[in-house]
Amino acid sequence: MKIHAEITGWGKCLPPAIMTNDDLATFLDTSDEWIRTRTGIEERRVSHLGTSHLATVAARNALAAADLDPNELDLILVGTCTPDEIIPNVASAVQRDLGAKYAAAFDLNAACSSFLYGLHYATQAIRTGAHKKVLVIGAERLTRILDWTRRESAVLFGDGAGAMVLEASTEETGLLASHVTCDADARDVLALEFGMSFDRFNFDGIMPFNFVGQEIFKRAVKGMNIAIDKVFAETGLTTDDIDSLIPHQANKRLIDYLAKRCNVPESKTVINIQKYGNTSSATLPIAYAEALEQGIIKPGDTIVSAVFGGGLTCGAGIIKWGQRVTPKQDNQMQLPGTDKSALDLILPMHLATKKAWESRGNE
Ligand SMILES: CC(C)(COP(=O)(O)OP(=O)(O)OC[C@H]1O[C@@H](n2cnc3c(N)ncnc32)[C@H](O)[C@@H]1OP(=O)(O)O)[C@@H](O)C(=O)NCCC(=O)NCCS
Repeated sequence: MKIHAEITGWGKCLPPAIMTNDDLATFLDTSDEWIRTRTGIEERRVSHLGTSHLATVAARNALAAADLDPNELDLILVGTCTPDEIIPNVASAVQRDLGAKYAAAFDLNAACSSFLYGLHYATQAIRTGAHKKVLVIGAERLTRILDWTRRESAVLFGDGAGAMVLEASTEETGLLASHVTCDADARDVLALEFGMSFDRFNFDGIMPFNFVGQEIFKRAVKGMNIAIDKVFAETGLTTDDIDSLIPHQANKRLIDYLAKRCNVPESKTVINIQKYGNTSSATLPIAYAEALEQGIIKPGDTIVSAVFGGGLTCGAGIIKWGQRVTPKQDNQMQLPGTDKSALDLILPMHLATKKAWESRGNE
């Protein structure tokens, strides 16, 4: 009998500190009007804690929704490009904090496409019998890597995490088809050049963030179109079979384009970019968790998702939802609070980076 990877749990974690577009305009040459009309973003979250904390809360919520003991997990896979440390990985911190003693644990970095990449490989692992119960997480603390003096990129991103539990099942549910790609000729159009090739002995506090928005936009449309065509061809489904669209949240204009392309009305398209900005690998699982909370996903629905990110990675998937759309246990746990505002968290980084750019200019 064919084995499928049913999605039995889902959860999210959004840090409490909110940064509005007007907050950004107090230290950047930007405006609420520019950001809203060009991107659809109104506010984003800024985390006072590391990526692994966000990942663990989202994971606890997903396990609660599935009512699964962490010791039953045999794999924890964290999609992230903002790990707390290079070694050890975020997944091992989640494993420790959940007490999931028997799970293998690794991180995956396909930038904003990481969660769909994770679902793709976790589903294959379950189908082959290699794993039975897998936790897939997308978690990011992007506000720590941004150059807060650069308006073209600083206004786009935010922090957050989301997670799903996948379990082996004989029901035909979960990811029916998925396709993941990488357009490596465009590696440089979205790049944070801060890693082991960086000269750490001459580090002045600037992490060079290369971002060519229009080129990313063009390539993303092309890559997502190819991936969407592939998943429709593989399943034999057409846009008439799709109940809702849950896309990566990078730009409202791109989401509107995808909705037209997939013939899905706005009422069936999950859009939360106005609240959280682009949380990279976390956008997809947060959007799924909210779609379930808001009753957008109904039992047995067929959902299409498409993503893109640095690399330039792209992907699409078609998910057949199961019969359960409510969590088995309460899945609304949150991070511990903070008395710091978003501006308290960001301004020191903005000032230090501004000073570093000024020193470079004076050399
Ligand atoms: C980033 C993005 C919103 C920019 O929108 P755009 O319409 O292409 O805007 P442009 O880059 O052409 O900039 C237009 C003008 O606005 C200015 N501008 C850029 N950022 C600004 C900001 N935050 N506030 C005010 N003005 C800004 C530019 O300097 C430019 O000014 P000029 O015309 O005087 O030169 C858009 O390209 C995009 O969404 N790209 C894909 C998303 C993405 O890459 N996400 C990350 C990967 S998942």
